[in-house]
Amino acid sequence: MDTRTLDAPSAPPRALRAPADCAPRRAAPVDKLVIEGGRRLEGEIPVSGAKNAALPILCAALLAPEPLELTHVPRLNDVRTMRTLLSQMGVRIEERAPGEVVLDASRIEWPLAPYELVKTMRASILVLGPLLARSREARVSLPGGCAIGLRPVDQHVKGLEAMGAEIDLEHGYIGARTTRLKGVRFVFDLVTVTGTENLLMAATLAEGTTVLENAAREPEVVDLAHCLIAMGARISGAGTDRIVVEGVDRLHGAKHRIMPDRIETGTFLAAVAATGGAATLTGARAATLEAVIDKLVEAGARIESSADTIRVSRDGPLVAANLRTAPYPAFPTDMQAQFMALATRAEGTSVITETIFENRMMHVQELVRLGADIEVEGSTAIVRGVPRLTGANVMATDLRASACLVIAGLVADGATTIDRIYHLDRGYERLEEKLAALGASISRVK
Ligand code: EPU
Repeated sequence: MDTRTLDAPSAPPRALRAPADCAPRRAAPVDKLVIEGGRRLEGEIPVSGAKNAALPILCAALLAPEPLELTHVPRLNDVRTMRTLLSQMGVRIEERAPGEVVLDASRIEWPLAPYELVKTMRASILVLGPLLARSREARVSLPGGCAIGLRPVDQHVKGLEAMGAEIDLEHGYIGARTTRLKGVRFVFDLVTVTGTENLLMAATLAEGTTVLENAAREPEVVDLAHCLIAMGARISGAGTDRIVVEGVDRLHGAKHRIMPDRIETGTFLAAVAATGGAATLTGARAATLEAVIDKLVEAGARIESSADTIRVSRDGPLVAANLRTAPYPAFPTDMQAQFMALATRAEGTSVITETIFENRMMHVQELVRLGADIEVEGSTAIVRGVPRLTGANVMATDLRASACLVIAGLVADGATTIDRIYHLDRGYERLEEKLAALGASISRVK
């Protein structure tokens, strides 16, 4: 490895700059979605692999010198960005068939995550733990601000330091090195999903036992743990707030299927509950989104589930429901905006409180453009249901806000045009195709 390069993060060598064709591919800025609202949704659609499980699991490939074979990998822009990042480090990546990706990290040449990529996708921070554990050094750009809030990474850094890493922050980069990470008991100050994932991955190759307390319990953390266990890691307690990892000297290749996306699932459930109609989601795991299902039922939807399908329908009225986002298993922040779209049309007043991110109400002003009656006080939105929304031009501000506007467009009378849908393409696979399969009138215009 050329350490001179790693010491000069502000000017990564040509090989580390994102070539034009592997800069995060996003819909051209002019792409828009046009929705003709007012149709009930009916039919059956499949659920994709989970974005927020795929991103850490792609990074887990860095931990082993043998291939990691993944199936059910969603084809979306954040996954493409992560693949670009990993391949710039020297990981060989092959997509054998749609959704089947093999990553070979037998050689990691550049343990570096440059600003150009990290700034487009905050989850790039997930390479820090695996790089440090396997290559014993890493330089990862600080993510910086993001639309939904400040989102610092202090817990990631603090945890790795507790494991013995030397970390400095210079020129906007986290520089980390170690002779070998050491097992430690670490208590997170707050529940962080990617923070837990980063330390979990780092701990698999540490010397001795690591105990992570106040760990995130999200199903995506559990899916990552399953993949790591298949690679030879010794992990217990994933899915609880105390994860114990006995470090091993090396991990090996494995095969893993990415879990179904619970937020995509919840988005479709909310869409059908909002428009009325009946739909079946196949390859869905109801047990991972109980809080969302409970709220949708409270709001008037009927939901039945089997081991891998969920059927949602609504014929009666939508009724108001209050909610508060919180770490799993409570109601996820990633479903707050979509639920708010539905609440705009419910009978009564819904009080929706966001507790995870400080700036995740940007969809409110766009919903108001569609005729919603919403007042925001701090991190709480008071949504008074109205009998109808009317189509308008609106602007997507982040991924889940985009999904919220799609749902609102589906229930609004007339045409809604959603601008800046590159946010949507970061995290939803073929969203408009799936909604069209349910009978929605939705099209992408260039
Ligand atoms: N936080 C800190 N310090 C840290 C880490 C987090 O203060 O070191 C704070 C954050 O600022 C935030 C809270 O802790 O207020 C929770 O953040 P968390 O770290 O859990 O979020 P994340 O790991 O960056 C993941 C998902 C998000 C999802 C959140 C919460 C991935 C790749 N991203 O982000 O997904 O909203 O957990 O569940 O897993 C999305 O998919 O649209 C999305 C934003």
